Amino acid sequence: MTDSTSWFSRGCRVIPGGVNSPVRSFNSVGGVPLVVKSGHGCMIRTVEQTELVDYCGSWGPLILGHAHPEVVDAVRTAAAGGMTFGIHTAAEVEFAELICRLVPSIEKIRLVSSGTEAVMTALRLVRGVTGRRRLLKFDGCYHGHTDAMLVAAGSGLLTGGINASAGVPSGIADDVFVAPYNDLNAVNAIVDAHGSELAGIIVEPVAGNMGLVLPEPGFLAGLRSAADRCGALLIFDEVISGFRLAPTTYGALCGIRPDLTTLGKIIGGGMPIGAVGGRADVMDALAPSGKVYQAGTLSGNPVAVAAGRTTLEILQRDNPYPELDARGRCLEAGIRSIIDKRGVALGINRLGGMFTLFFRQGPVRNLADAKTCDTRAHAAFFHAMLKQGIYLPPSQFETAFISTAHSKQHVEAFIAAAADCLAGTPHGGT
Ligand SMILES: Cc1ncc(COP(=O)(O)O)c(C=O)c1O
Repeated sequence: MTDSTSWFSRGCRVIPGGVNSPVRSFNSVGGVPLVVKSGHGCMIRTVEQTELVDYCGSWGPLILGHAHPEVVDAVRTAAAGGMTFGIHTAAEVEFAELICRLVPSIEKIRLVSSGTEAVMTALRLVRGVTGRRRLLKFDGCYHGHTDAMLVAAGSGLLTGGINASAGVPSGIADDVFVAPYNDLNAVNAIVDAHGSELAGIIVEPVAGNMGLVLPEPGFLAGLRSAADRCGALLIFDEVISGFRLAPTTYGALCGIRPDLTTLGKIIGGGMPIGAVGGRADVMDALAPSGKVYQAGTLSGNPVAVAAGRTTLEILQRDNPYPELDARGRCLEAGIRSIIDKRGVALGINRLGGMFTLFFRQGPVRNLADAKTCDTRAHAAFFHAMLKQGIYLPPSQFETAFISTAHSKQHVEAFIAAAADCLAGTPHGGT
């Protein structure tokens, strides 16, 4: 059996929907999901031996590209020394010290095994510490699949048209207020009416799960003030943005200090990991020093820690961020020039090496804007780019990533391919 279609149909018999995470399905773009065999640098190879330039990057972790030799070496060495102990290791202490050094707002940190787990822990912490129940989140932000965060969530739920997941008890959803992203008036109205009940405000400081949506000036500072005003704790979910734009978090970069930060993806260098960190007094509420319980058999796993630590050390050593930004800038300029010349109904949001092409005219600053995209035009573009050897996230509502393995030539090839593939895209009005 050598083709994706056969593997996918075989998988469908034993795996719900044929994939182990809904975002991997091609439900919103049509067709059969690719089955991948290997990846090196910015390239992936499918089971059909088709080579594709990968702009999905496993949804964010692979800032150094696939199978970076130093990361692979670190993983090999760590695995050879024992894959898991369930006993404290020196490597965990050094990794925690490294992150605390790189992110000033993180005074203490707890390692877990996924972004979802990190968020789940952060939410329990803010509730445990404040003694309050209710949470405020933002429309279109995704924080993993913990019950309370499946309300008005982005990513796979948005792509799949699921407003609220079945199986979440209504009481849990009722505890969550939802405001539009970038809308401080809505936030302040909720805080005015319910501030004394709010345990925490959680936000993606750079939203990556309704497509890429950037925080407007003053938005994050406004959230800091709103949280302070009502005594809620502020959580920045930086599972995507952490170490993506600088060798630190976006919070540190923009000078807003959250009480807690959740991390994942890049800090695991491609291995399963998550982390929650922040104010020492809040973090000390976690068991065994405090009464908020959290535990994990594989937390601080030696192999994941080795991959993550090596990745962060390379990012610090090489500082690839100006170059990632330059590649992103070049890609954005190329796309904007196509839009200007052809008048296609398209826009692009970009920050550093993160970008989303939105199939609509006008800026996208929240979920309501993103939802007006022409998802059919997006699907046609996705498949046309695939034919040109370029793999993008198979959804209008996701972020694409440029890694350090993408060269200037790769980006130029992306622009040339896009110019071809946008030929049939509807024009915007003038
Ligand atoms: C911002 C954000 N938070 C949390 C998560 C959940 O992370 P994980 O998939 O590792 O559970 C994601 C996943 O994409 C994410 O983008």
